[in-house]
Amino acid sequence: MSGAETISLALGARSYDIVVGSGLLEDAGARIAALGHHPPVIVVTDETVAALHLNTVMGSLEAAGVDARSIVLPPGETTKNFAGFEMLVDAILDGRPERRSLLVALGGGVIGDMVGFAAATILRGIDFVQIPTTLLAQVDSSVGGKTGINTRHGKNLVGAFYQPRLVLADTGVLDTLPRRELLAGYAEVAKYGLINDPDFFTWLEAHGADVVAGDADACRRAVVTSCRAKADVVAGDERETGARALLNLGHTFGHALEAETGFGPDLLHGEAVAIGMVMAFELSVRLGLCPAEDAARARRHLAAVGLPTGMERLPASATDPAALVAHMHQDKKVQDGKVTFILARGIGKAFIARDIDLAEVEALLQDAAAAA
Ligand SMILES: NC(=O)c1ccc[n+]([C@@H]2O[C@H](COP(=O)([O-])OP(=O)(O)OC[C@H]3O[C@@H](n4cnc5c(N)ncnc54)[C@H](O)[C@@H]3O)[C@@H](O)[C@H]2O)c1
Ligand SMILES: [Zn+2]
Repeated sequence: MSGAETISLALGARSYDIVVGSGLLEDAGARIAALGHHPPVIVVTDETVAALHLNTVMGSLEAAGVDARSIVLPPGETTKNFAGFEMLVDAILDGRPERRSLLVALGGGVIGDMVGFAAATILRGIDFVQIPTTLLAQVDSSVGGKTGINTRHGKNLVGAFYQPRLVLADTGVLDTLPRRELLAGYAEVAKYGLINDPDFFTWLEAHGADVVAGDADACRRAVVTSCRAKADVVAGDERETGARALLNLGHTFGHALEAETGFGPDLLHGEAVAIGMVMAFELSVRLGLCPAEDAARARRHLAAVGLPTGMERLPASATDPAALVAHMHQDKKVQDGKVTFILARGIGKAFIARDIDLAEVEALLQDAAAAA
């Protein structure tokens, strides 16, 4: 392992480090042993990640003298529900954890969200470590302590704010990630530039192609910058009473599109966010808040790396403007009956808007559907 970088998330007694580097999986045992938990350590992963990376982590724990066992779940979003959670909690309890045992989430956001929620609730709270293995999980879901599962009423509606003790983001594991998943994670990377870091966005315009091609240095810089941005926001607003909502740029539109496509393989979360960010910029332009050139720049860059920026690839059944607006009303982020949007005054100038005329939104969606 060479040249890992550490970012600290400052939350008082619940502060933790986010370590980013290549080869961290080999090093995980020593870093976990240093946390000093009682046995057992229970590593949870999914079948896909288990086949690729579980042996490395278990071997590293064994080498560090840590008594560890593993639980392997079926991969994918369909596991992240009450049935999957019950299966996970039962399997963890079979391992007879104590209050001072430790869970390890080895996988993408699905595993991280489920294991975090299990950690929050088992024995009323035990510690957990995140080892995110998708780009999306490394730059977004493993940091910040949002945990939870989906219900038939919608995504992530049952959960808890519960921070990990440590995050180990090994950028080397991105080598095995399918390109489409890597690209989806890249949308969240670009998001940080678009929210409040125009210099990072300019860097991405020059180097984003290297990131999505899996270049080690470019990936590490992208993950470090993203984690630093997320850590700053979360340290200032852990429970999303204010500025943390900026991280939802593209997500009001994105979640509606995901819901209409059934959260299935037609549209990955990051792809929906890419389309959603383009729509948020376009809405900002239509409302006279943002120069058209900035919106065009955002769209150009996302398209250049290979992300969708419109509804072209979606089934026509998923693009009905009225249905999409109806989904926005059911979103977790509705406050006093008003839908929250993150809009922008330019690249890196995002802000929270709560008084948007939904007729304007519907008109925008109508035009986007007609263009598809
Ligand atoms: N908690 C948060 O703050 C937060 C933020 C954003 C998203 N999320 C949640 O994260 C989830 C999406 O996360 P995701 O995109 O990581 O999905 P995921 O966990 O389903 O992973 C995507 C796919 O990639 C596979 N995979 C993972 N790592 C791999 C690797 N290194 N090599 C090869 N294959 C690998 C997985 O098996 C899976 O099939 C959603 O449930 C979303 O709600 C949570
Ligand atoms: Zn997201």
